[in-house]
Amino acid sequence: MQYKRILLKLSGEALMGERQYGIDPKRLAEYAKEIKQVVEKGIEVAIVIGGGNIFRGVAGAANGMDRVQGDHMGMLATCINGLALQSALEDENVHTRLQTALEIKEVAEPYIKRKAIRHLEKGRVVIFGAGTGNPYFTTDTAAVLRAIEIDADAILKGTRVNGIYNTDPEKDKNAVKFETITFKDVIAKGLKVMDMTAFTLSEENNLPIIVFDMNTNGNLLKLVSGEKIGTIVDN
Ligand code: GTP
Repeated sequence: MQYKRILLKLSGEALMGERQYGIDPKRLAEYAKEIKQVVEKGIEVAIVIGGGNIFRGVAGAANGMDRVQGDHMGMLATCINGLALQSALEDENVHTRLQTALEIKEVAEPYIKRKAIRHLEKGRVVIFGAGTGNPYFTTDTAAVLRAIEIDADAILKGTRVNGIYNTDPEKDKNAVKFETITFKDVIAKGLKVMDMTAFTLSEENNLPIIVFDMNTNGNLLKLVSGEKIGTIVDN
């Protein structure tokens, strides 16, 4: 196996599947099966999930809502997604723990780094909810932060596109995919991988980011097994 401990970043929007809003149980179950495949190989898996399928603070602010209020709503949305994913994983008999950056003790464990690492060592999937617990930070930043804290080998950003291209592959059929690219080149070329806060945090801490297509069956397992899937961003 190429990686021993990974931080998987999933967008909230991905959970919508074919829907316009909320959670598609079919998609959720598919993701749970993908994750189970890598857990069975002994890979330690931590997950950060976004909340955009339910609420995005930035979108709220664009409509005149107080940004902090909106971000708090977004953080709670990630907890809803985290609970849904936990449930789907348990349906697949995968042991999980949900830890949240905001305390909602009756619902989930509070985030404690050392406990999270013990859970991982015991083969439990740890889902981190509520982002970083702070407004103005994205769940990408939360994903990088948690990945660094738990000393993950890489952050795997699951998207619907199979890597990073020189132009938008959904708009330009001549777009060319990068197999690997440096952090500096991503910035120089003006490519969008993550927001700058998340991206530079990753760069400064030598945490590779792998962008890959999470919606193709078996991709996650292939990636952790060392197959060239997606695009690797590294120093
Ligand atoms: P070990 O110490 O490795 O055995 O981990 P553990 O998570 O099994 O032990 P613990 O006794 O801490 O937790 C037992 C169960 O309670 C697990 O399902 C935890 O997720 C859950 N749990 C632990 N702390 C909290 C909490 O603060 N809130 C909630 N809602 N559940 C908790």
